[in-house]
Amino acid sequence: MKVKIEKRQNETKINPRLHGQFIEFLGNAINDGIWVGKESKIPNINGMRLDVINALKEIEPPIIRWPGGVFADHYNWQDGVGEKRKKVFNEGFGTYSVETNEFGTDEFLEFASLIHSEPWINVNLLTGSAREMTEWMEYINRKQSTYLSKKRKDSGHEKPYDVNYWGIGNEVWGGGGMMTPEQYVADYRKYATAAPTFALNQFSEDSRYFILSGADANKPKERRYWTKSVMKELARARPPKVDGYDLHWYNWYLGNEFSASATDFNANDWYQVIKGATELEDILKEQYDLIQDGLDQLPEPEGEFDQKLEKMDLILGEWGNWYGRAFFEEKALYQQNTMRDAITTAIVLDILHSNADKVKMASMAQTINVLNALILTNGEQFVLTPVYDIFKMYKVHRNNDVLDVTITDENSDHVKFFASINDKTIYLNVINFDLTETISVDIDLPGLVLQYQKEELAANDMHETNTFEDPNHLRAAIVEQRNNVSANELFDISIKPMSVSVFKIVLG
Ligand code: AHR
Repeated sequence: MKVKIEKRQNETKINPRLHGQFIEFLGNAINDGIWVGKESKIPNINGMRLDVINALKEIEPPIIRWPGGVFADHYNWQDGVGEKRKKVFNEGFGTYSVETNEFGTDEFLEFASLIHSEPWINVNLLTGSAREMTEWMEYINRKQSTYLSKKRKDSGHEKPYDVNYWGIGNEVWGGGGMMTPEQYVADYRKYATAAPTFALNQFSEDSRYFILSGADANKPKERRYWTKSVMKELARARPPKVDGYDLHWYNWYLGNEFSASATDFNANDWYQVIKGATELEDILKEQYDLIQDGLDQLPEPEGEFDQKLEKMDLILGEWGNWYGRAFFEEKALYQQNTMRDAITTAIVLDILHSNADKVKMASMAQTINVLNALILTNGEQFVLTPVYDIFKMYKVHRNNDVLDVTITDENSDHVKFFASINDKTIYLNVINFDLTETISVDIDLPGLVLQYQKEELAANDMHETNTFEDPNHLRAAIVEQRNNVSANELFDISIKPMSVSVFKIVLG
């Protein structure tokens, strides 16, 4: 197989925020997954697990979304601040337990800062109110002395947190209210208008980033209808401030009567799930085009102070593999992640990278103990899944320019390439998801090679994963490194089956 790597005509930079994460009060994502309490035997920083903090600090998720998901629409932020926390009951996705609210706003924002992440807060549009939202914004971001900024100070945080990203509603077409697009845009207008002036004023440096709840990307007819209708509604009156459109997409694999398993599967299941991941690309392109069409239809500004909504970023606020059996787990939506999930994670991230001109931010569902998890915990036990290794290997692409990779001879449906460049260093990803075939690739590069390195995550069996008992069974490793190599001797590489490789190629 021969591939050619070239500069892309239209410069496309990879926004680091495509590597974001999502945590929710759901199953053990937060309780046990992050929060163990200050008195716990498990080493912690102010009640948050040290093992999890250290692991996430290494991948530095550029963005982290919280408190949900569906839970956001049942969350009252006041329950989770100050000395006395209110206990509530959490039914979301079968969590079925008492939520103590010990991990509240201040704890989340401390956690985000410990892992070098920017917070994205989703407000409660369903059971909350515009007042609750504005007061939350005041508590978090108000500079001037008010009773809410004083309350923040009393909780130990004098300086405003300066949270930029605010989601208004979650999956409003479903669990977030079963709304019509018309109802939702009306509510959105109200909330966006009610937000404190420091957040709303687009001319001010204190302006904040407002995110509209987007379509259910899994349903072709509905998602087209939703996006078109939302854009139409925005055009009906002067549009309020809106910066992003939050699409949700899951790679569902449910099986007969929700029997599909994350660990017990055959070759057919392997290929089906991987095919599912590849379908995301067309969805993103379609949704991007619909948003652009909608923006073109917006009325021209009339008054002096009228602003035209020029752009609205496409965001993928929830994504990941979701197997049928996750619905029946004792810990809600708990899933093991195998090499199959590492491969689909690599495919999705490469789709996001290649479409970085269209998608500006994404957050994977969810970081710990839920669905496409990077980390699994159980009391003192802790393990990094192979999905974690993909995020770690792929960190090198952040802020790079996207390159074009073309296959110039016989193609294989089971191999995927992606490349980016930072100054003179090319990073090339090769995913071979064939179950048996080693692939030999000839790479045609634009120049001489000074340095070369291959990092690889490869399985011998499709079910391979890491467990609490065998935590380092499937780990990425640098398997080759060379200096002062010439193009000829190097660029015939062989790629193992069931593997993801990242090549670092320093050009002369
Ligand atoms: O990530 C799990 C759930 O999936 C989220 O709470 C919800 O937004 C989505 O349906």
